[in-house]
Amino acid sequence: MVNQKVFTLAQVAQHKSNTDCWFIINGRVLNVTKFLEEHPGGAEVLIESAGKDATKDFDDIGHSKAAKSMLLKYQVGVLEGFIFRDVDIKEVVHEETRGKGMTASVIKNDKVTQYSKIVEFFVPLMVAGYFVYRSLTRDAESNY
Ligand code: HEM
Repeated sequence: MVNQKVFTLAQVAQHKSNTDCWFIINGRVLNVTKFLEEHPGGAEVLIESAGKDATKDFDDIGHSKAAKSMLLKYQVGVLEGFIFRDVDIKEVVHEETRGKGMTASVIKNDKVTQYSKIVEFFVPLMVAGYFVYRSLTRDAESNY
């Protein structure tokens, strides 16, 4: 269970130094002080976003799913007034996967795909039927 303590923007704004660095991403209040030296993008960019809502900065970089799932580790609370769904990042990843599944089923129901299924079924049936017909008529001919 992630920390749900509520903070105001003014409270978060008090933590903006390299020894006490907080910011907000998607309504989550994060304390990234211990992460500063580990951040692959460097400490400097994090300190620039300190005390602010860093959602846009974070999104603009196009952080990976791995980076997104790291956010929970640094969460110390949530932003006041933020309509927040307490979902686990794993659930978000699940939803994304489920979404992709739905897209795949839409493609399956596509008319072209249905048509090709019918062709795939009937063409071999007709070819087999032709050979059965040929062998039957040949048998009938040889009887004369
Ligand atoms: C707790 C918050 C953050 C975490 C856990 C995090 C994590 C990461 C990770 C894992 C990477 C490596 C690339 C990737 O996997 O996407 C990365 C790269 C980077 N991050 Fe962050 N990041 C955070 C916040 C931010 C913020 C607020 C900024 C502000 C601009 C930022 C800027 C960058 C930059 C510039 C890179 C380098 C991108 C590159 O070399 O192509 N990050 N971050």
